[in-house]
Amino acid sequence: MAKLMDWIDDRFPATKVWQEHMAQYYAPKNFNFWYYFGSLALLVLVMQIATGIVLTMHYKPDVSLAFASVEYTMRDVPAGWFMRYLHSVGASMFFITVYLHMFRAMLYGSYKGPRELIWLLGMVIYIALMAEAFFGYLLPWGNMSYWGAQVIISLFGAIPWIGEGLAEWIRGDFVVSDATLNRFFAFHVILLPLLLAMLVYLHIVALHKVGSNNPDGIEIKKQKDAEGRPLDGIPFHPYYTVKDLFGVSVFMALFLAIVFFAPELDGWFLEKDNFQPADILQTPPEIVPLWYLTPYYSILRAVTFEWLPGGAKLWGVMAMGLAIVLFFFLPWLDRSRVRSIRYRGWMYKTMLMLFAVNFVMLGYLGTKNPGHVDLIWFKNLVWAQIGLVFYFAFFLLMPIYTKLDRTKPEPDRVTG
Ligand code: HEM
Repeated sequence: MAKLMDWIDDRFPATKVWQEHMAQYYAPKNFNFWYYFGSLALLVLVMQIATGIVLTMHYKPDVSLAFASVEYTMRDVPAGWFMRYLHSVGASMFFITVYLHMFRAMLYGSYKGPRELIWLLGMVIYIALMAEAFFGYLLPWGNMSYWGAQVIISLFGAIPWIGEGLAEWIRGDFVVSDATLNRFFAFHVILLPLLLAMLVYLHIVALHKVGSNNPDGIEIKKQKDAEGRPLDGIPFHPYYTVKDLFGVSVFMALFLAIVFFAPELDGWFLEKDNFQPADILQTPPEIVPLWYLTPYYSILRAVTFEWLPGGAKLWGVMAMGLAIVLFFFLPWLDRSRVRSIRYRGWMYKTMLMLFAVNFVMLGYLGTKNPGHVDLIWFKNLVWAQIGLVFYFAFFLLMPIYTKLDRTKPEPDRVTG
C-alpha cells in the first residue's frame, strides 16, 4: 500500500492534497448546528446528479412522449419511483439546505472580508440552482410545467424593445413547445450541472484559501501555537468528517422519511396540477412555482401599479431581479465592526429576524391567490406589498443600522 501511494504521489499530489485540505486543514473548533449545511448541500448535489443520470436513461425529451416516459419510470422501471422521488424531493431539500446555509452566513457575518468571494460564488451558485430547478420543472411536461414555463418566459417580454424577441429566442418558438423542451433538457442535464459542479469547486477553493468563519465571527488564525497551528482550530479530518457524518445520518433519515411517506408533501414538493399532462387549452386555476421560488414570485406580483411608466409588469420584473441582486452586495452593505450576531446590537438582530419571517411570509403568499385573505386583516396582495417594502428596507437601510448599532467587544478566543 505504502509503495503504491509513493508511486501515485510521484505522479499526482494525492497525499499533499489530503494533508492540506483534510488532515492538516484546521477548522475552528466551535462549529455548531448551522455548519452542517455546506456539506449537506454537497451531498444533495451529488445525489441529484446520480439520480438524474438514472432518470435520464428512461426519459424522452419529446412533447408527445415526455409525460408518459415519466409515468413509465414511476410504474414499470424497477426502483424508478424511488429514483424519481429522490430527485424531486431532493430538489426541495437542496433549497432547504442552501437557504439555511445562506442564513448561517447572515447570522455570523461570514460574507464579510476576507470571505466576500466565497459569498459571491455562493450567490452565483444560488442563481444557477434556481435556473436548474426551473429547467428541470418543464421536463415531466405536466400542466404546471407547461404553464409555469409560459408565465416565467413571458416575463422577459416586459423588457422594453427587445423583450418579445428575447422571449421568443428563449422558447425557440412563439409558445412553449418541443423546441423549448429540448433545449431545457440540454440545459438541465448538461449545462447547469457542469456549471454547478465547477462553481462549487471554486467556492471550496476560495473557502480553503481564507479558512472558515465560525459562530463567534473571529479569526482563529490570529492565535497560533509554537508550531503555527491555530489554537482554536482542530484538523478537519477526523473531527469534522465524523461530525458531518452524524449530520448526514440525521438528514438522510428525514429525507427518506419524506421520500417514503409523503413524497409530494401535499403539493409543496410536487404540485397536484403536474399529475395532468400539459394542456394548452386548460390553464391551471393558480399558476405558481414551487415554494423555493415563491418569495420572488410574491415580489413580482406585489407590483400592481399600472400608472408606473412602462407598466406594472416591467417594474415587477425589475423588483424581482433587484431582490436577488441585492444579496450580492451584502458584504458592502453591512458596515458593522463585528461579524457574529452574538456581538451585534439589537438593531441588526431585530432586522435579521424580521427578514427571515418576512422571507417565509412572502414565500407563503406566493403560493396563494393575491385576492384572498389567508393571513389576518388584509388581502394577500397587501401583505405582499408590506413584505416587499420591508425586504428592500432591510438591504437599503443596512449601511445605516449596522453602523448605528451598539456592538459588544469580540473575545480573543472562541467561546464554544
Ligand atoms: C450547491 C450549493 C452549495 C454548496 C455545495 C456549498 C458548500 C459549502 C461548504 C462545504 C462550505 C464549508 C462548510 C460550511 O461552512 O458549511 C461552505 C461555506 C460557505 N458557503 Fe457555501 N455552498 C453552497 C451554496 C452557497 C450559497 C448559495 C451561498 C451564499 C449565497 C454560500 C455561502 C457560503 C459562505 C459565506 C461560506 C463560508 C461560511 C463560514 O465560513 O462561516 N454557499 N459552502
